[in-house]
Amino acid sequence: MNTPTDRPKSSKGLRTLAGLMPFLMPYRTRIILAIVALIVAASTTLTLPYGFRNLIDLGFTTAGSAQAENVNIYFIALFLLACLLALATAARFYMVSWLGERVTSDIRAAVYAHVLRQSPAFFEITQTGEVLSRLTTDTTLIQTVVGTSISMALRNILLLMGGVLMMFITSPKLSAIIIVMLVLVILPVMVFGRRVRKLSRASQDRIADASGIAGEMLNAIGVVQAYAQETREARRFGSAVETAFRTAIARIRARSLLTAIAILLIFGAIVFVLWLGAHAVIEGSMSAGELGQFILYAVIVAGAIAALSEVIGDAQRAAGASERLLELLAEQSPIRSPEHPTAMPPRAANGAELSIDNLSFRYPSRPDTLALSDLSMAVNAGDTIAVVGPSGAGKTTLFQLLLRFYDPERGSIRLDGVDIRELRLQDLRNMIGIVPQDTVVFSANAMENIRYGRPEASDDEVIAAAKLAAAHEFIERLPEGYQSFLGERGVRLSGGQRQRIAIARALLKNPPLLLLDEATSALDAESERLVQHALDAAMQGRTTLVIAHRLATVQRATRIIVLEQGRVVETGTHAELVDAGGLYASLAALQFASE
Ligand SMILES: Nc1ncnc2c1ncn2[C@@H]1O[C@H](COP(=O)(O)OP(=O)(O)OP(=O)(O)O)[C@@H](O)[C@H]1O
Ligand SMILES: [Mg+2]
Repeated sequence: MNTPTDRPKSSKGLRTLAGLMPFLMPYRTRIILAIVALIVAASTTLTLPYGFRNLIDLGFTTAGSAQAENVNIYFIALFLLACLLALATAARFYMVSWLGERVTSDIRAAVYAHVLRQSPAFFEITQTGEVLSRLTTDTTLIQTVVGTSISMALRNILLLMGGVLMMFITSPKLSAIIIVMLVLVILPVMVFGRRVRKLSRASQDRIADASGIAGEMLNAIGVVQAYAQETREARRFGSAVETAFRTAIARIRARSLLTAIAILLIFGAIVFVLWLGAHAVIEGSMSAGELGQFILYAVIVAGAIAALSEVIGDAQRAAGASERLLELLAEQSPIRSPEHPTAMPPRAANGAELSIDNLSFRYPSRPDTLALSDLSMAVNAGDTIAVVGPSGAGKTTLFQLLLRFYDPERGSIRLDGVDIRELRLQDLRNMIGIVPQDTVVFSANAMENIRYGRPEASDDEVIAAAKLAAAHEFIERLPEGYQSFLGERGVRLSGGQRQRIAIARALLKNPPLLLLDEATSALDAESERLVQHALDAAMQGRTTLVIAHRLATVQRATRIIVLEQGRVVETGTHAELVDAGGLYASLAALQFASE
């Protein structure tokens, strides 16, 4: 299986950046404008030395009043060129920075939207903190590249080419010498650039690791503190950060070396050629103005090469980052809507009909064990089925398959006669209301938390659902009633209260198929009676599957299905199963003894 964490590192280098093209294409016009501004600015820069040469050779050597006039004209021309340069540079900066911000925002949004659609299998192997780090730090790197590096690269490539051309026009001999030396300079730069890119990806990966650790531990802060593990956790994060630091330093060291080598070689070459030029002027084979012009072009070319080596460093870092993001974007969820989905038949008045045939399933992360094996059951519309069995029997797994969080290895699940793999995921999940084993409360107020079940529901509908779930009373008593903020993950509520919020949310959705996973496990006897009452009412007009350990819940079911190690071992009513004296009877006996 392709996992984002243990995939072999590819070495496509800067070509990875081509993967960003789809994000740039929508802004073609801007890009063209930026390139125009860039070309104008670069050509202006390249004309400046020519102006200087004229200033020196013509301006100072012609005699009399013509001299003053010449000087004036050339200075005015120079100033106008500077104005053009200023305008074009500002325009290029604006356009290119705009592109950088725009593309980064688009990539962030695209990656997040994509990650949201991944199946649970993806999250079994990816830490959420790591994804967050990708979304923030990696995208920032891409912003640097699109927002500055690309334009710097283009500008300097133009300056480099134009500068070299003008150098040849000015003095072919000196230019030829300088070019040979430049080739010698570029080779070590390329070799080092590759190393910087590799180190850069490693450094981003280490940051993501650290974020992964922090994300997980902050989510479990209660457990960390209860076990007094703050110091150990701080140390663990600290050493992850330290590793990230060391990786970063290795990259920075390589890059400093790169810069030193580049500057040294380039300026060495220029000084050497200048020395030759100075002799040419002394011998009279070159004018002072020409040498001046040549020097300025040589400086432009050298500056361009220095800037390019810098830019290549940045681009390599960003290539590392975008490689990671593009991998994330390429990650295809195995659970997808079919291309030609079947339309759901209209909802029946008494709920959905469910039939499961020979269902077998293994978790992708545990391919050796069957979590469900050869499981079959048929549930009539409107029935309430209790699913019981020892811990680890596969009860929650069955619900996961009903929601199509995973696809089975063999067998099928049909809702109202349609295989759920033929339905649009959204249609399927719209039909199902679930109260999960671990209830989830968002950092919002009570009203919005319940409304999550059906975002278009009115306040009155939300309150009605809360009443049905026996949650109304406690919500009313909160400091600000339904507007009370419940804290991140609902930390300001008790376990039982959270559970009732979750029940209200599922009821508000009013689904034809209701799945309750130990929906009343966190409630005291009194609230359980209340919720039980509410659930009895809520089960009217829909099919309900309820996972329960408590007999009170189970006894009311139309039928009881007993699971053990992923198999159905018994089915029947409470009375039938007690009489049969099997697994259920012994589970029931234990319960009666303890209650
Ligand atoms: N994401 C997963 N990856 C691998 N194995 C899993 C995963 N989730 C559950 N399992 C395994 O599958 C088996 C069935 O788990 P399941 O959650 O369905 O049990 P359950 O019947 O709901 O138990 P409980 O009553 O304790 O909630 C267990 O052995 C469990 O370890
Ligand atoms: Mg379970």
